[in-house]
Amino acid sequence: MQTHEIVRRFTAHFEKHGHTSVPSASLILEDPQLLFVNAGMVQFKPYFLGEVPPPYPRATSIQKCVRTPDIDEVGKTTRHATFFQMAGNFSFGDYFKRGAIEFAWTLITNSQGDGGYGFDPERIWVTVFNDDDEAIGLWREIAGLPEERIQRRGGDDNYWDMGVPGPGGPCSEIYYDRGPEFGAEGGPEADEDRYLEIWNLVFMQDERGELSPKKGHPPIGTLPHKNIDTGMGVERVAFLLQGVDNVYETDLVRPVIAKAEELSGRTYGRNTEDDVRFRVIADHARSSVMIVGDGVTPGNEGRGYVLRRLLRRIVRSARLLGVTGPCLGEFATVVRDAMSATYPELAADFERISAVIRAEEETFRATLTAGEKIFDTAVDEAKRSGRSTLPGDQAFALHDTYGFPIDLTLEMAEEAGLVVDRERFTALMDEQRTRAKADAAERKVGFVDVSVYRAVLDTHGVTDFLGYQTLTSESRVVGLLRDGQTVPAAEEGERVEVLLDRTPFYAEAGGQQADTGVLRGASFEVRVDDVQSPVAGLRVHRGVVTAGTVTLDAEIVTEVDRARRAAVSRAHTATHLVHAGVRGALGSAAAQAGSLNAPGRLRFDFTSPTGAVPAAALVEIEEEVNSVLQEDREIQTYETSLDSARKLGAMMLFGEKYGDSVRVVDMGDYSRELCGGTHVGRTGELGLVRVLSEASIGSGVRRVEALVGLDAFKHATTEHLLVNQLADQLKARPEELPDRIGSLVERLRTAERDLEKHRADAVLASGASLADAAEDLDGTALVAVTAPDGVTGNDLRTLAADVRGKLGDRPGVVALFAVEDGKVSFVVATTKAARDNGIAAGKLIPEFAAAVGGRGGGKPDLAQGGGTDPAGIDAAIQKLRSALRP
Ligand code: ALA
Repeated sequence: MQTHEIVRRFTAHFEKHGHTSVPSASLILEDPQLLFVNAGMVQFKPYFLGEVPPPYPRATSIQKCVRTPDIDEVGKTTRHATFFQMAGNFSFGDYFKRGAIEFAWTLITNSQGDGGYGFDPERIWVTVFNDDDEAIGLWREIAGLPEERIQRRGGDDNYWDMGVPGPGGPCSEIYYDRGPEFGAEGGPEADEDRYLEIWNLVFMQDERGELSPKKGHPPIGTLPHKNIDTGMGVERVAFLLQGVDNVYETDLVRPVIAKAEELSGRTYGRNTEDDVRFRVIADHARSSVMIVGDGVTPGNEGRGYVLRRLLRRIVRSARLLGVTGPCLGEFATVVRDAMSATYPELAADFERISAVIRAEEETFRATLTAGEKIFDTAVDEAKRSGRSTLPGDQAFALHDTYGFPIDLTLEMAEEAGLVVDRERFTALMDEQRTRAKADAAERKVGFVDVSVYRAVLDTHGVTDFLGYQTLTSESRVVGLLRDGQTVPAAEEGERVEVLLDRTPFYAEAGGQQADTGVLRGASFEVRVDDVQSPVAGLRVHRGVVTAGTVTLDAEIVTEVDRARRAAVSRAHTATHLVHAGVRGALGSAAAQAGSLNAPGRLRFDFTSPTGAVPAAALVEIEEEVNSVLQEDREIQTYETSLDSARKLGAMMLFGEKYGDSVRVVDMGDYSRELCGGTHVGRTGELGLVRVLSEASIGSGVRRVEALVGLDAFKHATTEHLLVNQLADQLKARPEELPDRIGSLVERLRTAERDLEKHRADAVLASGASLADAAEDLDGTALVAVTAPDGVTGNDLRTLAADVRGKLGDRPGVVALFAVEDGKVSFVVATTKAARDNGIAAGKLIPEFAAAVGGRGGGKPDLAQGGGTDPAGIDAAIQKLRSALRP
């Protein structure tokens, strides 16, 4: 059964039983504690916690998931994948254990003709949490499972939570027995390779705190309702139903292996080492494409780093399979073809995805090339000193500084007949890991415990946001924090976090900077310098108490800094216009990758499949944006359903999760975007937008910076003054400046060339007088002097040869010294007659070089050298004289 059909049957089964089918959420959700979405329930978390009323009592989804903690296991086992699809059914206070077990059992055991998966009921085993007798009873009653195929397991296996505070519950897992050829008898407890987990049913009823019930810690509370959260591993079911050996050989993954076979010329299934590489490529290619598809670009932290690691592991594995050229683009194409039936955005957005991936490959290949040079030097060194080991320090430096993967170093060392000092390497790696752990621990302490905010949220609900309509309000202090702890009051001079029942303050989000302003009570004042939303729905005002004592429950008046808000709003509106302009000029593959809206200025990052934006296109974008300002369009904002926003053609950002109701910022056909930010009323208010620059910020992402309003005007004025000043100085009209400066530069160049020629002529001209001044040492003419000022390097040699020529047939020696930057250089030349007398230039140098703190050498006719002590030139000349006088 094809994966597509497995998924279709799952959705159909649950829709038939009253579940609303909800599309997969993006892999990236706004959850500071979660790198990637790793389970189907993540997008429903607020419903479980009771933060938001669920719009439907039952739901089903096929969620894309990424889990990377087991990245090293990929390819080595049958079932570890960094990307997988989790099919799930969810009940929000509706059915509970009985419903979950019934639904799962019928789907997996109903015959394929009957719409099920047709698994043999005799081969199904289940596990339950310790003493969950209720679940055991239901499994016996509904599925008729005998006692011996129901195993009790502890929290580690049969309690599920998100790994962080939040919803959780005991679970019951469903396993399929692959048969005696795959391992020992005895159920999942004995062997999880033979007994393969296919489905986890979580009885979501608890709220877990800092410590997990998995480890025996009691939950901190119960959820408002009893819920169901399940997850079926689509790839695992596929691998069982398709009769293949592992998840990598299923219909949607195997094609990448085929492509790798084609590119490498090697065959899958011949030897274990190669097979692991093939599988790593297949798995990672899929995850990377999906991750880039959701808007992540490679980087050195967080998600970007995980992505970078995945991509680099592919390049390395392909290399070890003997693929020498770039290959990521080709793998990505195969993934697109396999996956776009379910995720059409992959095809629509492929140009961008492929550009991001190929750019990273290019960077990494350059790294590899640099690393290889260093590796070669290290190998040479080892061999020259007769060692057969490559030092662990060097292997570590290659890994740490050049991103050179250790197994590549190992492999290449082996090819070069060396072994790597693994012990030292491992020790250094451990040291680094300890450092990293300490770092992370420190950060955790610094990380504010969100449960304090959550408590405020539970008691007072979300902060009403009034900031679209007003900049001031009467509000009440519902939460007061100092150093992350709730306090009843705070005094003048103290830094606080203030939570209000309602506020006009905008919390930093979507690239828009936070509002600043004042909270004024009857006898106190708090100056707000930052507003954040650490928990969805809550707005936290950060600032300093500047007068009096602020207390919990106090009534206050809020005042947002109007000028700053207006300037930030102008920048935000301008960002939408620039976004529209960029897309108009470069096509829809240019997608927003980040932005900053600060007072009077903006930054807009986007993926550009075609590299730099030509200067002419940039000017056009700027002009177009300004013409929209001149049209003074009305900017409308309204809420509507996601669906109708889509129909209106509103731009949505990758990686953003939108609810059913969305806010549209509409500037007519020119720009229509989903956005929660604040904007001006009419485009005319922006006055002026000036694009300052466009540059790469790595991995196919470009950045445009621009100024808005008065800041743009001031910038233009400064430039105008500068141009006038130049025009004045050059006595030209402004439009003549480029020509005038061009011709000035040209004249300067000609003058420099002339000057250089004169200087060279003068140097040579001095040859004759130097030759005339030769002293006579018992028949050998000696010219030994410091050359005229300005004679260095090449000139010195030319001059020495010239003087020698002037000495004619006489036996003669010319020694010229020059001083530059406190260093001495010297040249010695001999005439043929001198050489016939046994005088060699190269041999003379050691006679005097030490006197100028240097050395040198060369042939009998011409030799040269340098030293560090100009004060010794006279002594050197004296030494030379003595050397020539036998
Ligand atoms: N949330 C459960 C899991 O991820 C179903 O296993």
